[in-house]
This record gives sequence, structure tokens and C-alpha cells, in this order.
Amino acid sequence: MSNSSYDIVVFGATSFVGQILVDYLCRRHGASGDLKWAIAGRSKSKLESVRESSGPDGKEIPLIVADANDEAALRQMCDQARVVISTVGPYALYGSTLVRVCAETGTDYVDLTGESQWIRRMIEAHEATAQESGARIVHCCGFDSIPSDLGVYFHQKMAMEKFGEPATEIRMQVARIKGGASGGTVASMMNIVKEASSNPSLRKELANPYSLVRDGKASARQRNVKGPELDPETNAWLGPFIMAAINTRIVHRSNALSGYPYGTEFLYDESMRMGRGLKGRARATMFAGSLGGFMVGAALPPTRWVLESFLLPKPGEGPSPEEQKNGMFDLRFYGTTAGGNKLVTKVTGDRDPGYGSTAKMLGEAGVCLAQDINKTDVGGGMWTPATALADPLIARLTAHAGLSFEVVS
Ligand SMILES: NC(=O)c1ccc[n+]([C@@H]2O[C@H](COP(=O)([O-])OP(=O)(O)OC[C@H]3O[C@@H](n4cnc5c(N)ncnc54)[C@H](OP(=O)(O)O)[C@@H]3O)[C@@H](O)[C@H]2O)c1
Repeated sequence: MSNSSYDIVVFGATSFVGQILVDYLCRRHGASGDLKWAIAGRSKSKLESVRESSGPDGKEIPLIVADANDEAALRQMCDQARVVISTVGPYALYGSTLVRVCAETGTDYVDLTGESQWIRRMIEAHEATAQESGARIVHCCGFDSIPSDLGVYFHQKMAMEKFGEPATEIRMQVARIKGGASGGTVASMMNIVKEASSNPSLRKELANPYSLVRDGKASARQRNVKGPELDPETNAWLGPFIMAAINTRIVHRSNALSGYPYGTEFLYDESMRMGRGLKGRARATMFAGSLGGFMVGAALPPTRWVLESFLLPKPGEGPSPEEQKNGMFDLRFYGTTAGGNKLVTKVTGDRDPGYGSTAKMLGEAGVCLAQDINKTDVGGGMWTPATALADPLIARLTAHAGLSFEVVS
């Protein structure tokens, strides 16, 4: 919508991650510079507080009041926006009307959901409408799943340049990670576990690596690191990586939407590297055990209540500015081509992955969609970060958001 008042509207500017994003956009673009943007949410007074705390320039940011359940207000908001960036989650609880309104009004949209069951519902319900209206809907524009999806895209591009063929298998290992969780992320995870604990068909869907692929062409049996496992490539012990549940689905969807450039038999999995020797093995065993225990605890109503009431951060809470600043991540991608060529690439980020870095990735994804990707190159539809934003977003992330994409060996 070229005649929109704003390039970007940040819906959910009062959320924990939304406030970091507003701060980032203020520092990167100013409140009344070339980028026209506004903040939105359900509470005018909370939005005013966000504006107050955004420094002298922040006071100029326009406000839009809209509740996630008020369709008329969402339509008015979308009419003013080229791209809506939403941090209003859990998305399965509060996000569906906005995606429908964006699809119907041709408004571009990016978010931070990691809820694959909700993404599948949105694809089924709105893909045809978005294709018709020209709305580009891009879910998963935070730590899940930009580093994984663009990391695989980058790895394959390098493999094609070096060997003339893509990797048929890529194993991603989280080599280092430092950060914490917010109440909003915990609420989203708890909602998935709650839905799945009473719904066997949803459990089956969540276990399907191709749950976001609709053409049925890919069928390779995917690997999945569930317990401690020794990796012969690095000689390190591996444990499960919780974000693999969404990242692997997005990577397979990118492969499918692009017409299978990595092949229909492409294998992709993610794990946490826990170190070598006995120590690494003990760490991997303990980590897998605690994660399993947490999942069981989250599925049972009494223990879920204890976890939510006393142990986990509440909505609006998250890592301190110090913790965000001292956070980081380092992801390694080990690929092998059909001809046996091997390549290692890495994606790193400064700041804690879930908030400090995620807010920057989300902001750059939204601005990239508004400014770099025209509708003749990428038309309306339900895209992934790699299929909609690819090289222009990698350029933005490396230039402005503290990420690096590199060949290791
Ligand atoms: N992909 C990733 O890597 C990643 C990383 C971080 C977070 N996330 C996801 O991002 C989302 C936000 O996380 P967070 O910790 O920042 O959440 P949060 O602090 O709990 O904030 C939730 C936001 O939703 C708003 N909201 C709730 N109900 C609403 C309604 N009916 N209408 C309008 N707004 C409503 C809240 O508004 P009020 O302030 O008015 O209550 C608040 O702005 C979560 O879904 C989380 O899972 C993903």
C-alpha cells in the first residue's frame, strides 16, 4: 500500500520485546526521519509511557490504539501501514484476527511467533487471500527462525559457489549461547504444551518435520537429537535444542516454497553442543533430562501451575539490560553435498538471542520488507524469512544488527 501513512506500525510496542524494538528503531531511524513509523497497542497510557521512555526523539512517535480482538480498530491500523510488525503474543491466543485483516487488506506483516501449529492454521486459512491481495505475511522473524533459515540459505549459497551443488544434509549445532527467557515466550511455550497435552492429533502434527509443507513432495526421514548423542564430525556430545521444533519446520518450508533447490530428500536437524569427553556427556545427559522433566511438568496442570506461578517469568518480564548486552549466540552449520564435499559455516549474533538480538532482527525484517522487497519480486503469500527477505536482510543484519554470516572451513 504505497499511500499508507506509515512504513511500519509496531503493534505490541508495550511488550517486553516491543519496548526494546522501539528503542532500536528510535536509535537507528529517529522518530521523524526518513522511516515513517508509529507504535500501537491496546492501552493508550502504556503506549504513552513507552514513548516517554524512548528519549527526546521518541516523544514524536505517533500512537495508534487497537485491541487484538477489535477487528474494526485493526482494519484502521492496517489501512495506515505498509508493514505491521506484531509482538502481541502468544499469537495462537491473540494473533489470528490481525493476520486475517492483513491478508484481506494487502498489508505486509512480520512477527515473532514460534508456534508452528498456529502458523499452519494461518497458512491454511489465509494463503489464498494473501496471494490475491498482495499481503506478504512473514512469521518467525526473531531468533526463531532467522539465524537458522538464513543460515541454511547462506550455507547453500556458499556450497553452490564452491562445489556447484547444495548440501544434501546440514546439521546445525548451537556452539555457544547466552541469554534468558521472557514471560511472553514462556506463555507461548506453555500454551503449545497445554494445547498438545489434550490433543493427540496436534501432538502428531508437532512431531511432523513437514507440518508447514503442503505439497507432500518431501519425505526423507529426518534426524532428531532427542537425548545425549556423540557427533563423529566434531567429537562433541550433543543435546536437544528446544527451538529445533520450529526452526526445522521453517527451513523445510523455505526449501519447498523455493521449488526444492536443496532436493526433496534434504536432511536438516539442530542440537546443542555440550562439550567433549565425560564432562560433555554428563552435561548432555543432564540437559536432555531436565528438558524432558520440564516438558512433563508443563503438560500436567498442577506442576504447570507451580511453574507459572512461582518459577518462570511473567508476561512483561525478561532479561535485564545488562543480561541482554552480555548475551550472544554462535551457530555452526555442518553440510555435506551428494559428492561428499564438506562445508562449515557459522551465524553469530551479539546481545541475548531472545530479546536484544531478536528485537533488532525483527525491526530489520520489517524495514527490509517495507523498503527493499518490491511486490513484483515477492508477491502476496505466506512466506518465510529466507524466501521473502534473503540477501537484502542478510545485508541489513550484518551492517546494523550485530549478526555475522561466515564460512568457517
Ligand atoms: N521468535 C523469537 O525468537 C521470540 C523472542 C522473544 C519473544 N517472542 C514472542 O514474542 C511475543 C512477545 O513476547 P514478550 O515477552 O515481549 O511478551 P509480553 O511482554 O508478555 O507482551 C505481550 C504483549 O501483548 C499485548 N497484548 C496482549 N493482549 C492484547 C490484546 N488483546 N490486544 C492488544 N495487545 C495485547 C500486551 O499488551 P499490554 O502491554 O497492554 O498488556 C503486550 O504488549 C511472545 O509471543 C513470544 O513468544 C519470540
